[in-house]
Amino acid sequence: MTQITDMVSMETEGDVAVVTVDNPPVNALSAGVRTGLYEAVTKADADDSVKSILIVCSGRTYIAGADIKEFGQAPQGTPLPDVHSAIENASKPVVSTIHGTALGGGLETALVCHYRVAVDSAKFGLPEVKLGLLPGAGGTQRLPRIVGVQKALEMMTSGDPIGAKFALECGLIDEIVDDLKEGGLAFVKKIVEEGRPLVKVSDSNDKLAEAKGNPDLFAGFRKAIARKARGFEAPEAIIQCVEAAVNSDSFEDGMKAERERFMTLVTGAQSAAQRYYFFAERQANKIPGIDKDIELIPVKSVGIIGAGTMGGGIAMNFATVGIPVTITEPDQDRLDKGLGVVRKNYERSVKSGRLTMDDVDKRMGLITPTTNIEDLKDCDLVIEAVFELMDIKKDIFTKLDSFMKDGAILASNTSALNLDEIASVTKRPEMVIGLHFFSPANVMRLLEVVRGDMTADRVLATCMAIAKKIRKVAAVSGVCPGFIGNRMLYARGVQANKMIFEGPMPWDVDRVLFDFGFPMGPFAMSDLAGLDIGWDESKSKGETIRDRLCEMGRRGQKTGQGYYNYDPKTRAKTPEPEVEKLINEFSEKKGKTRREFSDDEILERCIYPMINEGAKIIEEGMSFRPSDIDVVWVNGYGWPVYRGGPMHYADSIGLDKVAARLKEFQAQDNDDFWQPAPLIEKLVAEGKGFKDM
Ligand SMILES: NC(=O)c1ccc[n+]([C@@H]2O[C@H](COP(=O)([O-])OP(=O)(O)OC[C@H]3O[C@@H](n4cnc5c(N)ncnc54)[C@H](O)[C@@H]3O)[C@@H](O)[C@H]2O)c1
Repeated sequence: MTQITDMVSMETEGDVAVVTVDNPPVNALSAGVRTGLYEAVTKADADDSVKSILIVCSGRTYIAGADIKEFGQAPQGTPLPDVHSAIENASKPVVSTIHGTALGGGLETALVCHYRVAVDSAKFGLPEVKLGLLPGAGGTQRLPRIVGVQKALEMMTSGDPIGAKFALECGLIDEIVDDLKEGGLAFVKKIVEEGRPLVKVSDSNDKLAEAKGNPDLFAGFRKAIARKARGFEAPEAIIQCVEAAVNSDSFEDGMKAERERFMTLVTGAQSAAQRYYFFAERQANKIPGIDKDIELIPVKSVGIIGAGTMGGGIAMNFATVGIPVTITEPDQDRLDKGLGVVRKNYERSVKSGRLTMDDVDKRMGLITPTTNIEDLKDCDLVIEAVFELMDIKKDIFTKLDSFMKDGAILASNTSALNLDEIASVTKRPEMVIGLHFFSPANVMRLLEVVRGDMTADRVLATCMAIAKKIRKVAAVSGVCPGFIGNRMLYARGVQANKMIFEGPMPWDVDRVLFDFGFPMGPFAMSDLAGLDIGWDESKSKGETIRDRLCEMGRRGQKTGQGYYNYDPKTRAKTPEPEVEKLINEFSEKKGKTRREFSDDEILERCIYPMINEGAKIIEEGMSFRPSDIDVVWVNGYGWPVYRGGPMHYADSIGLDKVAARLKEFQAQDNDDFWQPAPLIEKLVAEGKGFKDM
């Protein structure tokens, strides 16, 4: 065996040169891998005793992508295009034998080989779009040539991988082998014996034919992904590259189009935000000050109190990953109703083909209903999800403390109540923690893990691990009103609700935030949640817009009317002149002179309070790091990931500019609400941003 570089070696098996990549953990295409592949293939190609070349990877996967650490660094080692050219233009067959995941630059490298085989469990994808990029090493040009235009568009704009069986059907691989290396060797020997041609994907144009001169195919595809791709630059750039593959005179012209668009994306703000966010999400699971080898509490069974909107969804998370759940309600009817909703939710996945009825029965079989709360006593973790009232929560935690086994974790799903106060009724506050799921709990990825004053490190670390297990993205918050997400949402809401008496109407505010990239603005969101949440008819005196709307029966989408009118069939919303009249009346009563607002001002009035509140959250120690706040907002509140999150966004504008604008608003409104957080002042004085913390 010859070591070519520290990451690539070569040995001969008969007349086959076997080139092995070994760059743990995922065999990323680092400089050492690129140079090694280039030199090994060049050497083998020049060696007359070698008849064919087999590329294989050690460890758990084939090359799973670029080395993301090299982004933005000065280039080192052999450039990837040179590696690809050496492989594709070799004078003898080069075959990749694939296991694990061939992703990104990995799949692009497999695509320059003359043939590909894979084990049954292998997966293939071009996920660059998820980092705001496109496959920039020929992927946009070669993939449509091998799997066809439609499938290539789907794979590259979704970034989702496909399995080996499907890859074989589409022509992406040539054979499924039982054994990675032996299977690969057998295949290579076979094609040499059969004298099969050296297939260059770049020369294969048959699968482009269906799309040539058929612009409808692209128009239809753009329409199909319009909703999901709204605001993102990369999917459109990918489509344009595939159009170039189809319509250019040569493969090289298509490569040029790909190169140009890749450079635009890689130097642009969206990809910078998405790459930042990629690391932010991984970072959020790490807790400073807790030993990563801390012994976790085994959680083999979970108890849930309350089978309402949240309790049912939370139960599903655990049953889905095979953890048995006992769920309780005081009353059999409500229990049956709650479980009925859970079953319906699962059955919906059967209709969409994601589950079988058998799966549903298995999962439902893991959920045990009971009206006796003491049946939860042996659970390793209980999660309380009853009404948001302190007295009821305290009553439940007092009970739990009296019968739960020692060592059980006691969690509350409260959205806003003081967790420390809840914990104080128990004799084991160190076992109490907040697990703030978002609605619908079986769908939303975010989990705010609320660390009380007394919460034990072991309990916190266990809950972070559980979050991963149930496929949530967790971020830790301290105990403060609204925790991270709702606290910042509240700050935004204060200004949104003030602004509508000064100039813009609710639909103007909503439009600006929608265009910024949110799925909806604050007023549409209130309509969706229901305007009467927390509203009490008996106490309503018509003093606020909300009071008046609720009194008028305009309680949001569920009544067909709120700030907007909703079409009963399509749910499309339209502004209501009566609401406009009402808002104008309130403006007058408050002595406000209405004026024009630019879209920029509307945006700043909504977003800058969030940034300021975020800074306060950090300086109070309620969040470990600014990026955790971004994780909360991207996952829980639909902040567009291509803007990184509110704290990243602040840095991208420049914290000095944000601070200056906050002061202008402060002077204009004569309101200390706008006083910049001391942390912002400090960072600005030091010429720093949140990223430097
Ligand atoms: N709905 C949301 O969007 C959302 C989001 C995050 C957190 N939360 C929080 O989750 C909790 C539950 O909210 P929800 O929306 O599911 O409310 P819900 O009204 O839909 O459900 C609460 C359930 O608790 C049951 N319950 C009441 N007292 C009980 C007791 N003593 N023992 C067992 N069950 C009891 C009720 O019968 C009801 O079914 C609240 O603390 C809320 O703030 C709600």
